[in-house]
Amino acid sequence: MKIAFIIDPIAKLDPAHDTSVALMEAACRRGAEVFIADMNSLSVKDSKARAFLQPIKIHPVPLVDGKWQVPQPWYEVEQGEFQPLENMQFVWMRPDPPVTTEYLYATYILDYVAPKTRVLNSPRGIRAANEKMYALQFQGAIPKTIVTADKGTIIDFVAAEGKAVMKPLGGKGGEGILFLETGDRNINSLIEISTNIGKTPVMVQEYLPAAQDGDKRIILLDGEPIGAVNRVPKSGEFRGNMAAGGSAAQVDITDREREICTQLAPTLKADSLMFVGIDVIGGYLTEVNVTSPTGVREIDRLDGVSLGDRVMDWLAAQI
Ligand SMILES: Nc1ncnc2c1ncn2[C@@H]1O[C@H](COP(=O)(O)OP(=O)(O)O)[C@@H](O)[C@H]1O
Ligand SMILES: [Mg+2]
Repeated sequence: MKIAFIIDPIAKLDPAHDTSVALMEAACRRGAEVFIADMNSLSVKDSKARAFLQPIKIHPVPLVDGKWQVPQPWYEVEQGEFQPLENMQFVWMRPDPPVTTEYLYATYILDYVAPKTRVLNSPRGIRAANEKMYALQFQGAIPKTIVTADKGTIIDFVAAEGKAVMKPLGGKGGEGILFLETGDRNINSLIEISTNIGKTPVMVQEYLPAAQDGDKRIILLDGEPIGAVNRVPKSGEFRGNMAAGGSAAQVDITDREREICTQLAPTLKADSLMFVGIDVIGGYLTEVNVTSPTGVREIDRLDGVSLGDRVMDWLAAQI
């Protein structure tokens, strides 16, 4: 099996936390030929998508007494060369969000990977799925939510709900997520800043008190939930994101959450979104992460599983 991962600079990844490393490690363990490429190297020649592919080996990162032991060095990269991506069986697009113009252009280049090579997640699917907006189609699964750039509409929504959360549509890791409540002296200014004075739509959602107990990340492979981790906000913080200091805790997947996954599965399959991470707060779907969902290291550590191996089994079965 030959698999290329399009990722952020390897030296900046955290082998004890980043799912991309867990996936590459599992691919190496399986004996696959693993390559990495920088998104900026993507190009098209003779109508074929190419990239500067560097062979990589990830040294095993063992779990000892509940902690990932990162060897030094933890990877070895060999001399790379430009190659058509159709030389791979799989190309996995996993740079971190936000989805910038460059990111979008990368997905257009990936449209020129020959169909015999599977691109994960599908470039079309990534374009179809804004991580915040995609959830809105799953009625019954989502909390009360509006998307607007209009201050009056937001003020009315907050007045009706009492408490709300305002989110930039292209954010990640809790960045720019704001708690709003009626009577907050800053509310007008917060809305102006977030909407770029009425020009940029934002998502405003009823505040779910269950967020205090955690924001659950569920990983779905081909529409099926394969593992979950709870992210509990640190004290004095309402955002559960690990990037915002939230701590990972062991958690089960509830019946309600399985129903949400069942509701999503046909749409995810239709959009070829094979590996996604959904966020669920108090039984409500708040986000569908399709670009570079994380959580695998935490789930493996807390549940004693290896989701990376499970994903590689699934890939091998696709060939
Ligand atoms: N409706 C909500 N009610 C309460 N807290 C929320 C709500 N939506 C998001 N949060 C908090 O904000 C964090 C980030 O929200 P999310 O929508 O997942 O955006 P991001 O892309 O930044 O992860 C969540 O981990 C959660 O703690
Ligand atoms: Mg999130």
